Amino acid sequence: MNGLPLFPVEASTVAHRTDILTLFLVLLAGAFFALVMAAMLFFVVRYRRRSPDEIPPQIAGSTKLELTWTIIPTFLALVAFFWAAKIYADETQPPPNAIDVSVVARQWMWKVQHTEGQEEIDEMHVPVGRPVKLTMTSQDVIHSFYVPDFRIKQDVLPGRYTTTWFEATSPGSYRLECSEYCGTNHSHMLGRIIVMTPADYANWLSTGATQSPASQGARLLQQFGCVSCHRDDSLRRAPPLENLYSQPVRLAGGGTAIADENYIRESILNPAAKVVEGWEPIMPTFEGKINEQQILDLIAYIKSIGPEQPGRGLQNPILPAVFTPAAIASSAPSGSPEPTPTPFFTLEPLPGGGSTPVAPSTPTPGVTPAAALTPGGGVTP
Ligand code: CUA
Repeated sequence: MNGLPLFPVEASTVAHRTDILTLFLVLLAGAFFALVMAAMLFFVVRYRRRSPDEIPPQIAGSTKLELTWTIIPTFLALVAFFWAAKIYADETQPPPNAIDVSVVARQWMWKVQHTEGQEEIDEMHVPVGRPVKLTMTSQDVIHSFYVPDFRIKQDVLPGRYTTTWFEATSPGSYRLECSEYCGTNHSHMLGRIIVMTPADYANWLSTGATQSPASQGARLLQQFGCVSCHRDDSLRRAPPLENLYSQPVRLAGGGTAIADENYIRESILNPAAKVVEGWEPIMPTFEGKINEQQILDLIAYIKSIGPEQPGRGLQNPILPAVFTPAAIASSAPSGSPEPTPTPFFTLEPLPGGGSTPVAPSTPTPGVTPAAALTPGGGVTP
């Protein structure tokens, strides 16, 4: 890593696999280059024109030769494809025990928010040896979250969430770069990922925490008046939020949607886009009234009252009692009884065409289809 950073350190679990694949591709391309160049030089010399009026004999094609140079490269290309696809698939699926961290990019900084409440600018503290799942969005233009030493790169887009994950393998400080041109100071949109030992990390977590995103979200739920409709009594005018996260939701007009981060975000900003079956589309849009950080906080809250997931207890600190759904409901202006957890309903195909078919039966309160429980919540079609 001295001087020319031709071989950056391998500091994450995918780094070595990515490097081996890259090496394979470089050597393969190099071997073919050498082969083609050598054959060309050989033919240039061997079949050069020896006299001005020489007429060479005609040579017909060779089926054997053509089959050889078709089948072997095809096979090699398929090897590279499946090898890369495997790595890509693994890099796309965060392990269930991943720590959740949210990232909001803007011109020209990275804002990082931890589940425990820590907020950071252009820095991200993470423990070594634990997978970290990033949920990212942009407040303005397209940015790209790139950590060369981890071999991860993911575009960060306005208007939707993208995710990626990594597991750092050794403590240290690693460069975070924006790798999508995003305006004048794009090249200064840099940060650091600080990988700490578990002990140091625990120590770090115990300092500087403000409010956890989930508890901020609980507060916003009151502030924006969400609780006046999303309640659990006879005055309820909107579907419940409990046990919603990561579940399939049945939509008016047929179809289903998975209540992941993108779905919740869309339902806040454009409630009419996917109306839950059995409910009136009465919710106003919150576009322009709520910022990206607040949406992330609301999602964190909805996650915290969502169905149990493996590893969940590790990432979500217990909310103070005042933020439980019951406490929130009862502190709502009109006061309301304790909500009963009910699963959600659904929507139609997500952007990109994927949708999760749900049996066309009546939604059964309290029952959540097991298939929809994707650990970590990254339900991406
Ligand atoms: Cu942000 Cu380039």
